[in-house]
Amino acid sequence: MTKKNIIKFKRGKKMKTFLIGIAGGTASGKTTLARILKDSFQEDAIILKHDYYYYDRSHFKVEDEKINFDHPDSFETELLVKQLKKLKKGEAVQRPVYSYKTNERLAEKKRVNPAAIIIVEGILIFHYEILRKLFDLKIYVDTDADIRLLRRISRDIKERDRSFESVKRQYLSTVKPMHEKYVEPSKYYSDIIIPHGGLNEIANDLIIKKIKDHLRN
Ligand code: ADP
Ligand code: C5P
Repeated sequence: MTKKNIIKFKRGKKMKTFLIGIAGGTASGKTTLARILKDSFQEDAIILKHDYYYYDRSHFKVEDEKINFDHPDSFETELLVKQLKKLKKGEAVQRPVYSYKTNERLAEKKRVNPAAIIIVEGILIFHYEILRKLFDLKIYVDTDADIRLLRRISRDIKERDRSFESVKRQYLSTVKPMHEKYVEPSKYYSDIIIPHGGLNEIANDLIIKKIKDHLRN
């Protein structure tokens, strides 16, 4: 641990930053795991989604053949990297706010205060070397494609204003091919692969223990 990673936080405690990347296919359980970690470490942890950094595509409809939200070029990854570096130095950032309903980066921004544990989650975060280099722990949540698809259909209809036909078309035209081309191969870069993502209690407990050990040392 370098001296640079030791920063002073609000409550006056000196802490080492620990950056955790959580990757995996769509609806694999990344958000669920990130929330479990956040609940364990409370104000000592923050979550940043790579999805916050999607470029604005509000002029397109999801049905549009040209739109591909699963390609690495769809994200402003440089901005995420810049903001992570600031957080690691103990500085607050103004992160973008994104709407899946309108495919739009909203005008508002959200302040994120630095914390000892910085959790980043996204389907493609292990694809980029600039991001990989920042993580202290890289976790890949591995969930079977059929389970992920079923979860995605329910979630996108319920939470992202999509129809079954739209989810099906998008899954076959971009989500599945991009998963096979970019997401699945990025598993190679992970330190830990969690099977049956979401509520794998043993895996979650081991990860929490690893983070606690790191913070103690
Ligand atoms: P991701 O962030 O990888 O897209 P989420 O954690 O948001 O995945 O999970 C996708 C959907 O599947 C959500 O609606 C979530 O509630 C549900 N889900 C996650 N884990 C489980 C699980 N173990 N069992 C059933 N549903 C789950
Ligand atoms: O939460 P999850 O990891 O599933 O989020 C990533 C998925 O969100 C991608 O597979 C992408 O297809 C989808 N997405 C979308 N519409 C957007 C932005 C992302 O369907 N506007």
